[in-house]
Amino acid sequence: MNKDISEILVTSEELGEHTRRLGEQITRDFAGKKLFIVGVLNGCIYFLTDLSRHIDLPCRIDFMQASSYGGGTCSCGDITIVKNISGSLQGYDVLLVDDILDTGYTLSCIRDMLLKKGADSVSVAVLLDKPAGRKADIKADYVGVDVPNEFVVGYGFDYNQRYRNLPYIGVLRREVYESAQ
Ligand code: IMP
Ligand code: MG
Repeated sequence: MNKDISEILVTSEELGEHTRRLGEQITRDFAGKKLFIVGVLNGCIYFLTDLSRHIDLPCRIDFMQASSYGGGTCSCGDITIVKNISGSLQGYDVLLVDDILDTGYTLSCIRDMLLKKGADSVSVAVLLDKPAGRKADIKADYVGVDVPNEFVVGYGFDYNQRYRNLPYIGVLRREVYESAQ
């Protein structure tokens, strides 16, 4: 295990099970619909690539990017869109995919933008849900695991752009970010 990690929250095997379960559920729920998967960069990359391989339906895939925490460990609710998707979403049922629902500011802002672009519906899939952190009015339709209010890294989750490539999700030792502040 990486020395900066105090505890593994979700193992690599469990990640495989969660993405399979959610992908199969999404396959059933979106059968017959025009599915458009929108991933939120950069955190979604591992989850979206694994999840989408378990979605056995024709679909489009594109990405958006919102401003990040700017190096800290809490969200301020001030969202800037850095990369958008082009064109109308009329006729599409959108599956918005992100790594985590924490305060919910990022996903509620992006969900509203996608509805304004004409999406018939917007459903939300996240690998992790931190219900204790919620501030915006949003619920995820598909959740891998509920996690406690701790700062996690790995499988796409970063701290200052590090640790994304860990094959599991772990709790980052407090010393790592407290000594940097
Ligand atoms: P929000 O607070 O729900 O708007 O989440 C914004 C973004 O913060 C998420 O998409 C993640 O990229 C990031 N984030 C939230 N919690 C964590 C965490 O524990 N580790 C790493 N990134 C996080
Ligand atoms: Mg993110």
